[in-house]
Amino acid sequence: MGFRDDFLWGGATAANQFEGGYDEGGKGLSCADMLTNGTGSSPRQITRTLEKGMYYPNHVASDFYHHYKEDIALMAEMGFQVFRMSIAWTRIYPTGMETEPNEEGLKFYDDVFDELKAHGIEPLVTISHYELPFYLTEHYNGWSSRELIDLYVKFCGTIFRRYKDKVKYWLTFNEINCGTLALGNYMSLGILNEGTRSFLEQKDIPQLRYQGMHHQFVASAMAVKLGHEINPDFRIGCMIALMPTYPLTCHPEDMLKFQKQWQDINYYCGDVMVRGEYPHYAKRLWAEQGVSLEITDEDRKILKEGTVDFYSLSYYQTNCVSHSDDQSMTGGNLLAGVKNPYLKASDWGWQIDPDGLRYTLNDLYGRYRIPLMIVENGLGAYDRVEEDGSIHDDYRIAYLKAHIRAMKEAVDDGVDLMGYTPWGCIDIVSASTGEMKKRYGFIYVDSDDFGNGSFKRSKKDSFRWYRKVIRSNGEEL
Ligand code: BG6
Repeated sequence: MGFRDDFLWGGATAANQFEGGYDEGGKGLSCADMLTNGTGSSPRQITRTLEKGMYYPNHVASDFYHHYKEDIALMAEMGFQVFRMSIAWTRIYPTGMETEPNEEGLKFYDDVFDELKAHGIEPLVTISHYELPFYLTEHYNGWSSRELIDLYVKFCGTIFRRYKDKVKYWLTFNEINCGTLALGNYMSLGILNEGTRSFLEQKDIPQLRYQGMHHQFVASAMAVKLGHEINPDFRIGCMIALMPTYPLTCHPEDMLKFQKQWQDINYYCGDVMVRGEYPHYAKRLWAEQGVSLEITDEDRKILKEGTVDFYSLSYYQTNCVSHSDDQSMTGGNLLAGVKNPYLKASDWGWQIDPDGLRYTLNDLYGRYRIPLMIVENGLGAYDRVEEDGSIHDDYRIAYLKAHIRAMKEAVDDGVDLMGYTPWGCIDIVSASTGEMKKRYGFIYVDSDDFGNGSFKRSKKDSFRWYRKVIRSNGEEL
């Protein structure tokens, strides 16, 4: 028993949080480029133009744009077999509207893929990771418009054809189910309703959000179909942010609330993308949200024809739900919830729960029966650089070790798990707060929350530990 022989070990990033070079090589502005910095207590702001005196951390990020050779060499030293990254749509189509792609942008990713190949690392590409061309937000209010389907499929066609012999694994949308939350308006759907300025308090119009997700489902299914036509060996997956909950007590209403949250937030998108049709509880959800979706017969046909090859997920933490409002709350990746008295939390209040990962993997595999891949997991923490330059991140090692153990249990339970790419394998800008000091990496990047620093890379203790894990295919933890 244990992980399969061809298990894919690696790490994950996203262009907007890692790449930088926001105005180089003909790149256009993306939604992430319009987000200012923030902190745990003061939310990021969304500005419609780049404002003087404001700081936009995604513009420079970790500067992978200029460090990719060095970064890939470090990944190879750790033994990575896979590297999850995204292609910035705005490097290929700066506004999304162009009829011809930007050659300089295409060339950049050619260079990155060639470098990966030279080191024997397989790319896993997220096609859209919170980085819609901002032009499409301004002119179409993002995915609320059906026009985005064709613009996205055009982008997919371009990169599928160009990289058909360089990339095999693709994810159509990062954390597509983020759109089930008001927070997902802007990041996930590029919807910016009048009156929104703060990332945390967005003006929400559920009708636009649910219709927007429907457009994404159709676009994803079209991409899957097109990808398989271009190269039948492509493996194209969905990517869902798992926000698992437990019932706080055995009160029957807690149980119902728990079931509803799994359906409405965790299953809703995966059910459509894996099974090719909306689930039985969708009508009730739409009624509760006061939405009425435009779904054509052609849409239904496309959804059926473009189901995904594998299911990928992010997993960071779990929360509880309770029928009673009188409970203490905790923070979380995308979703806050009721505190679990049995769990400890990270510095950002995300509850740490490796057993929840085993439960989640079993639950998802039982539901879908297609291979699963964990494409994000990890601990955002403060790191201290010692005088001699070393970084002793034993807290990160403890977190990852416990989660890999849980994965192994799930595999021994019978779950078909393809791979594991911990998040932010090299330090990157946080999506929720815009901070650099919330670090996930095995590799430290010398830059602070305002982009001050040398951007020099250095190895944390977890670097050496993870190399050992990969070498032993997860046996030596
Ligand atoms: C996921 C996103 O929700 O969580 C990533 O896909 C994000 O983009 C990650 O960075 C961790 O969240 P944060 O807010 O700590 O960066």
